[in-house]
Amino acid sequence: MTSDRRAAPAHTTGGKLSEELFERARLVFPGGITRATVERDPFPVFADFGEGAYLTDVDGRRFLDLNNNFTTLIHGHGFSPVVEATAAALRRGTCFANPMKHEIELAELLVDRIPAVEKIRFVTSGTDAIMFAIKAARAATGRTAVARLAGAYHGAYDWAEAGQTTAAGMPVSSFTGTPSYVLDDVIVIDFNNVADLKLKVEENAHRLAALLIDPMPSRAGLMQPLPEFLETANLLAKKHGVVLIADEVLNLRQGFHGASHRYGLEPDLITMGKIIGGGFPIGAVGGRAEIMNLFASHNGVAGLPQGGTFAANPVSMMAGKVAMEALTRATFERLEELGDRVRGGLASRIAHHDAAFFVTGAASLFRIHVSSTASSSSQHEHAVSDDAKTLSRLHRHFAAHGIILPRGAAASLSTPMSEADADQIISVFDDFLASDSNKAGEAA
Ligand SMILES: Cc1ncc(COP(=O)(O)O)c(C=O)c1O
Repeated sequence: MTSDRRAAPAHTTGGKLSEELFERARLVFPGGITRATVERDPFPVFADFGEGAYLTDVDGRRFLDLNNNFTTLIHGHGFSPVVEATAAALRRGTCFANPMKHEIELAELLVDRIPAVEKIRFVTSGTDAIMFAIKAARAATGRTAVARLAGAYHGAYDWAEAGQTTAAGMPVSSFTGTPSYVLDDVIVIDFNNVADLKLKVEENAHRLAALLIDPMPSRAGLMQPLPEFLETANLLAKKHGVVLIADEVLNLRQGFHGASHRYGLEPDLITMGKIIGGGFPIGAVGGRAEIMNLFASHNGVAGLPQGGTFAANPVSMMAGKVAMEALTRATFERLEELGDRVRGGLASRIAHHDAAFFVTGAASLFRIHVSSTASSSSQHEHAVSDDAKTLSRLHRHFAAHGIILPRGAAASLSTPMSEADADQIISVFDDFLASDSNKAGEAA
């Protein structure tokens, strides 16, 4: 840890001005926030501005940002090629009912890079992308049900959100009032459980439109997928004519060709979002031309009339193109090395202190788990039993040392992060483990 950072005033998770803004926000937003995912402890850190790998809050405190707007900002904050390109685009008009050249350029880049993507449609969020992928799967198969992995997050579309939470292996909706017929059409499979995958797909093949798989679901633990699990998914989808959808909204950042290519998943459709918008709202569904062509109209009637007022807006398209162009193979390799350095460093500190934690992730992503309740043998399974109190203390400890560490979700690295930043993450974690009172399993 560098001495200047040690000398910095201790951060709590939110400062005085953040607290004041939260009081105002509570008057206009239910719960004081405008998206459920904003972290509060007990109130959020209100951002003032971002610069590279760092975020400065309204109280003037500077944090290394490992959230990066839920893994979106692979180039960190204010990446100048994107700032310059979008500033120029803004002056020429922010949205039109007409197509523009930029959308073709971003589409060409993605079609070239992502093996499963032959054709593509842009939307404005990952949630939209999942919704349209499921609609395409239904149109292609004439079936309605969706099989998905327990614990995985896929946005808020009814048939994609139900099953993130389960009760006795059955899907539960996170949204009160969801009709029960939605749940009838959602089948939940245990991640990395080949037998469960076979059983559920074979039993339900006649009604399954889609098998929805995030190759490394972050909310379900950011665990390595077992090769045989993904191979089985490939085989079953082909055998039963089920559309295999890879949700790469988050995990596209795992490599130049994306996550399915990296892990051997062979999807019919891929959903994308986050990094492909360069920090602006975006989503995309791409895949086999035969299925994607269902979005085209035939005799003036579109089988899938996907629209969206801001879909393919020129600012998101321009930002995405510039951000993705800057992600060369060498950039991905460097991010991977930085990720290995962080994960390896964290794991070595855990071993050194013989602490009850373990680390998951790949490429530029990582998650720290408490293993007092989720044993390390469950590293291939769905880790939901993390000790919330210990994770809270860990999160506060990182905040107190100037690092924003997401809770219960993937932490992500960005291209402006340095080796010193990586070592700082390890050092702050080491401090946490070194303090006896912070050892896992003790009361908060
Ligand atoms: C894997 C995955 N799918 C879908 C979504 C939904 O994307 P959005 O928040 O852009 O609607 C997310 C968002 O975090 C995600 O991580």
